[in-house]
Amino acid sequence: MKSILGIGAGYVGGPSMAVIAKHCPGIRVVVADINPHRVAAWQSGEPPIYEPGLKDVLGACLGRNLHFTADLEGAIADAEMIFVSVNTPTKSFGRGAGKAADLQYWEKTARTILRHARGPTIVVEKSTLPVRTAEAMERILFGGGGRAEFDVLSNPEFLAEGTAIADLEHPDRVLIGGAETARGRAAIQTLADVYAHWVPPERILTTNVWSAELSKLAANAFLAQRVSSINAVSAICELTGANVMEVARAIGSDRRIGPSFLKAGVGFGGSCFQKDILNLVYLCERHGLDDVARYWESVVELNNYQKRRFVERMLHAMFNTLADKRIAVFGFAFKADTGDIRESPAIQVCRELLAEQAHVCVTDPRALPEARRELADAGPGVSFDEDPYEAARGAHAIAVLTDWQEYRELDYERLHAAMAQPAFLFDGRNLVDAERLHAIGFNVYAIGRPALSHL
Ligand code: NAD
Ligand code: UGA
Repeated sequence: MKSILGIGAGYVGGPSMAVIAKHCPGIRVVVADINPHRVAAWQSGEPPIYEPGLKDVLGACLGRNLHFTADLEGAIADAEMIFVSVNTPTKSFGRGAGKAADLQYWEKTARTILRHARGPTIVVEKSTLPVRTAEAMERILFGGGGRAEFDVLSNPEFLAEGTAIADLEHPDRVLIGGAETARGRAAIQTLADVYAHWVPPERILTTNVWSAELSKLAANAFLAQRVSSINAVSAICELTGANVMEVARAIGSDRRIGPSFLKAGVGFGGSCFQKDILNLVYLCERHGLDDVARYWESVVELNNYQKRRFVERMLHAMFNTLADKRIAVFGFAFKADTGDIRESPAIQVCRELLAEQAHVCVTDPRALPEARRELADAGPGVSFDEDPYEAARGAHAIAVLTDWQEYRELDYERLHAAMAQPAFLFDGRNLVDAERLHAIGFNVYAIGRPALSHL
């Protein structure tokens, strides 16, 4: 294997190809994207996404054996293996709108590969796709009209944003699905050999194609389900005097359950959890598995409930009116250590606060440009400030919506002194020390805990 192409230079394609290039100096890795601005940013060493550690990896191999290009066609002709990491959002039109995956980018890519590939080419699905998409890809690629011979593998990506480089460097597992034929097994081995440059062999799992495709959807559904489960518990905690962090610790100490992904919050966001569950729901419905579909759909419904519930709690605590009150929103990214706001709970929370005629001032250390774009249509009720102290000046309440470490370390005495009184703090991430802030004078409403109020 001498040449790899990655199609799609986004959150997955950019970092995953960069890590391959870093560990495989003998392989020329090219990443192609239809968006020339993205390509130029990657090629300059200033990537279009924020990801801790990414610049160091780029520094090690950019221009050496890692290159970015907008010349998709030329790059396809030269590649022995092609990873496809294009976006697969939820369909917004026609049949399956709101649930099914929109496969137009993916199918266009398959057709471009067919037209321009020359020699034997292994095509690797890295995008998250509905089960049996590889079959559709094979139909296009094997359908004739091309000069090359193809093998199709499924190699879903499990990285999380904010920890992408660590996840890629030390994956829990690499999953490779391929055809159960001699040829399919050879293709699987070729890809496994690439990962073997840095991943221990026992972490490289091989399966049939459909298991690999389904495992990706199921893994995200399980993770999201844990978050919705603990968020459901958080609602009970607030009414009963239990503390969700204590309950999570007690539950997570059971080795059969484990401690990860039990942080209650304002709801999960990110480009994938909701999209992938809805995709699974659609798949179940198409196969007549309505009960299974309803089961998974409830994970998304609970998440929407959690976001609504957060705003309702704010409204009730603040004397049932938010009109003309200033609310400082601390964090717009869907989680810490990313500038990504896709499906961030902050979007819904801000829109609901604006619907109550509150004045919302958003601050975020990385995602402020994205927040401005997202709320461009929101009118004069919304403003933005890089400085959290300025955002909170004169505010009636602070709402912590992203778990940025810097929000733990703010001077809350100073914040409190500059706010309208009585000052409220709604902690959607259980980030701050609620008792300490209560002692300062805040009325503190943390997720999954009874209020600490002076009123
Ligand atoms: P993204 O939107 O950040 O990147 C996709 C890129 O593909 C864009 O730069 C776009 O311009 C490019 N593209 C689209 N059509 C193209 C075409 N025909 N030719 C060349 N380039 C094209 O998306 P992402 O977050 O990287 O996600 C990609 C896939 O990976 C999705 O299926 C997603 O579900 C999956 N995934 C994402 C994550 C994550 O953390 N973001 C993690 C695991 C899996
Ligand atoms: C998630 C999965 O963790 C990855 O394995 C997967 O590859 C990726 O989706 C994908 O397919 O795109 P990501 O969305 O980047 O990764 O981030 P997570 O750390 O999973 O967080 C998702 C959301 O859940 C965030 O809004 C986060 O704040 C929230 N969350 C997470 C909680 O509210 N509580 C938790 O305990 C964990």
